[in-house]
Amino acid sequence: MHIQWYPGHMAKAKRNIREDLKLVDLVIEVVDARCPESSRNPDVDSFAKEKSRILLLNKADLADKKETKRFASYYAKKGFYTMEIDARNKGSLKKLPSLIDEACQPLIEKNLKRGIKTPTIRAMVLGIPNVGKSTFINTYVGKAMAKTGNKPGVTRGNQWINVGKRLQLLDTPGITWPKFEREIVGLNLAMIGSINDQIINIDELVFYLLKYLVRYYPDALTNRYGETVTDDEEAIKVFDAIGKKRGCIKKGGDVDYSKTAKIILDDFRSGRLGNITLEHVPGGIDDEQDQSET
Ligand code: G4P
Repeated sequence: MHIQWYPGHMAKAKRNIREDLKLVDLVIEVVDARCPESSRNPDVDSFAKEKSRILLLNKADLADKKETKRFASYYAKKGFYTMEIDARNKGSLKKLPSLIDEACQPLIEKNLKRGIKTPTIRAMVLGIPNVGKSTFINTYVGKAMAKTGNKPGVTRGNQWINVGKRLQLLDTPGITWPKFEREIVGLNLAMIGSINDQIINIDELVFYLLKYLVRYYPDALTNRYGETVTDDEEAIKVFDAIGKKRGCIKKGGDVDYSKTAKIILDDFRSGRLGNITLEHVPGGIDDEQDQSET
């Protein structure tokens, strides 16, 4: 199943983002820790080559902690300043101001030489839909959130927000990109709810999810559905068993896969299946395996 989702309004938003990047010192990209690589917009790498980059691995509360650590160090090696967060929880953002200072050190030093002790840092906040970008901004800025309205040079659609005296965030609409190069990216984004569900074949998507879970998280299936799963169990049998257990049966007695699929997907998205990460650090053995199975 090859998924693409890039509605017209996103192309327009992308042009605005590109334009407004000229105004910022720092790019803060919010990604979903359950699939950080899939939920990172590759366009940003080419647009924001010269900028300092912070990568917030959000929804870390839902991801596999071991994998999140691996991703954090992978991105740190690539030059990103990274942090694991749960955007709903202000405590998880406590270290962000010092991370922003670290990421903007060259700017701060340049200003110090000019006699400016505390320069205003301008940061663009980016993220594909549903990664928790709005939640992050609301939690970080809190009640003090002050939208500053239109400023010269800022394209319509993007919005400046003052965070105290030192930081200005430029909020942007959630966008994807024109072509997911790898099939697995579309599948992962569909699973985390970043793609409009209406264009997805949920049964097929969940079949793929089950294959992945049988392989990497069999205990999650056992714990949630009481199905003892062995590594070589066929995903379709698991699908069937869950359907029967949950009473998803059609009139003729067959399993209602669509109904079952919705239950499983909802369980995954809400974290009821436990802490799960959908992909592995690029270049590793597991990553190659994931690619060959889609
Ligand atoms: P967006 O701006 O990037 O599109 O995402 P948004 O903040 O609207 O968040 C999308 C959903 O993800 C929301 O749930 C939000 O509560 C949830 N969320 C955001 N950050 C985190 C996180 O770190 N951990 C977890 N577990 N959930 C997070 P929703 O069900 O769509 O809405 P709501 O009923 O919670 O408001």
